[in-house]
Amino acid sequence: MCGIVGYTGRGPALPVLLSGLHRMEYRGYDSAGVALLPAGGGAPQVRRAVGKVAALETAISESPVDASAPLGIGHTRWATHGAPSERNAHPHLSRDGSIALVHNGIIDNFLALRERLVSQGFVFRSETDSEALAHLVEACRADTLLESVRRALSFVSGTYGIAVAASWAPGQIVVARKGSPIAIAAADGVACVASDAAALAGRADSVAYLDDGDIALLVPGGFEVRSIEALSPVVRPAAPLDFAPDAIEKGGYEHFMRKEIAEQPEALENCLRGRLVDEDGTAKLSGLRMEPRDIAALQSVVVTACGTSYYAGLHGTYAFEQFSGIPSRIEQAAEFRYRNPIVAPETALVSLSQSGETADTLAAVREAKRKGALVLSVCNVVGSTIAREAGRGVYLHAGPEIGVASTKAFLCQVAVLSMMALLFGRTRRLSCQEGRTIVGALKALPDLVRAALAQEDAIVRIAEKFAGARDAFFIGRGWQYPAALEGALKLKEISYLHAEGYHAAELKHGPIALLDEHVPVVALSPLGPGHDKMLGNIQECRARKAPVIAIATEGDSSVDAFTEDVIRVPQCPDFTAAVPVVVVEQLFAYHVARLRGEPIDQPRNLAKSVTVE
Ligand code: M6R
Repeated sequence: MCGIVGYTGRGPALPVLLSGLHRMEYRGYDSAGVALLPAGGGAPQVRRAVGKVAALETAISESPVDASAPLGIGHTRWATHGAPSERNAHPHLSRDGSIALVHNGIIDNFLALRERLVSQGFVFRSETDSEALAHLVEACRADTLLESVRRALSFVSGTYGIAVAASWAPGQIVVARKGSPIAIAAADGVACVASDAAALAGRADSVAYLDDGDIALLVPGGFEVRSIEALSPVVRPAAPLDFAPDAIEKGGYEHFMRKEIAEQPEALENCLRGRLVDEDGTAKLSGLRMEPRDIAALQSVVVTACGTSYYAGLHGTYAFEQFSGIPSRIEQAAEFRYRNPIVAPETALVSLSQSGETADTLAAVREAKRKGALVLSVCNVVGSTIAREAGRGVYLHAGPEIGVASTKAFLCQVAVLSMMALLFGRTRRLSCQEGRTIVGALKALPDLVRAALAQEDAIVRIAEKFAGARDAFFIGRGWQYPAALEGALKLKEISYLHAEGYHAAELKHGPIALLDEHVPVVALSPLGPGHDKMLGNIQECRARKAPVIAIATEGDSSVDAFTEDVIRVPQCPDFTAAVPVVVVEQLFAYHVARLRGEPIDQPRNLAKSVTVE
């Protein structure tokens, strides 16, 4: 995710900015930049580079800035609007070049703002939503920088953490927060800001965190925080800043995978933000560039992907059929590309890929395009090859995923496909009321994940009991079938424990022969259609002495007769129940792998991005 750092003081800002940017590298980013404001005025000097902070340091050494400048702001960008490039990197300058701005978050009304600013003569140099903010501050210029920023923000909807500096406001940095974290600190003659307190470690003993709706003015040696709306002063208490170097790298977690599991509620919020329309009971996915008549003409949806993305895609096909009534199927990308598949212009080919670089999925996209299908991408990495070649699609906005085992991308893929299915459904057969019910259920996803995360102690106890197993099965029915496949994949890839995901009804057609007292079966059994059948399948396992780990609905005791190892998930509609279940599976796999001492973030033989066939 993007990172912000800023410094105003007596000494040079540049080393503080660069060390702060380095400390935020663990968050993942694709470009970086700084703006330095020389003492006594003068326009901001901006240097930006694609790639690592080291590339920015090279750019600065090749084209030096005023190294003594006592004020500056810096940024690491993880692309959301516009591909990673030098011109899309932050800081962005206003039209007159006097204002520099860095931004984390997503501006929902950026297209409307951009249109209005362009009509007023502002020229955009980037494809970002953030640049609009820099121009807007210039358009709203008042007596002070604080008031200019405040006025500008009154026109903005979306999320932001921003830091702004201007040549005409020497020594000042204005910061504001709505939905994206901002920490500020002041000490002897200096004041600093960062989106991640880790970036300030060693610079201050304590930091204050802004709340949503706060705006603050930083000057050398101090800051004042106000409410954006009323401008009334507010007090934000300081918290001690105490980071070990390793904690800085992983945001306080032992592994990136665990950090990314914890980030899922926020990832889902970012993924859903601005895309669900309560009133009409539908979804708004402008990147698809599909008119109602295009959706009405669809004859089929084919989803193609690999690995975890494939399982999210399988879940998606259920949503397409149930919500929209369009015949849907999933194809492994590697099969699709070589099978001479039948696709027609009325087929929507949905290619799913976290990285957007998976070789087989990319080849499937090219094959589908050759055959004239309407190709839609669902990727996490902005500007990735699949997203570019598809030309239309939806980004996950899950934030960077560094652990090889995919976690937050899976949940966001499920969320995006559900929104696509809702949009298609509302265009074809769903009533407004049915659509509203689905909107409500999708909005509840982050809370479902929070509830599942809260089960971690119980999950650890069960992981301790079974960490020594050699084989395991995951079984599920209906919407829980893709979740069973995903749970088994998670466990095998990081714990090296042999695991198989099966449809619960399929077990007796072969694999039940493998069950005995040494082979645990994870039974995905939340309430919903087929629950009684699932209880029957659990009994079949118990009859073979297999220990059962049940994932069941809160308040439902129907599984308790068969096992004491039960993890509870909240009650919710069947089409969202896989989300908390998968979070439980992620934590189970994580803790089993941790207890077995495996290298969780980089399992043997695996790569984050599989760019070979
Ligand atoms: O980047 P992609 O989503 O296209 O990657 C597909 C698979 O390689 C990926 O999901 C893989 O299965 C993960 N390691 C699973 O955790």
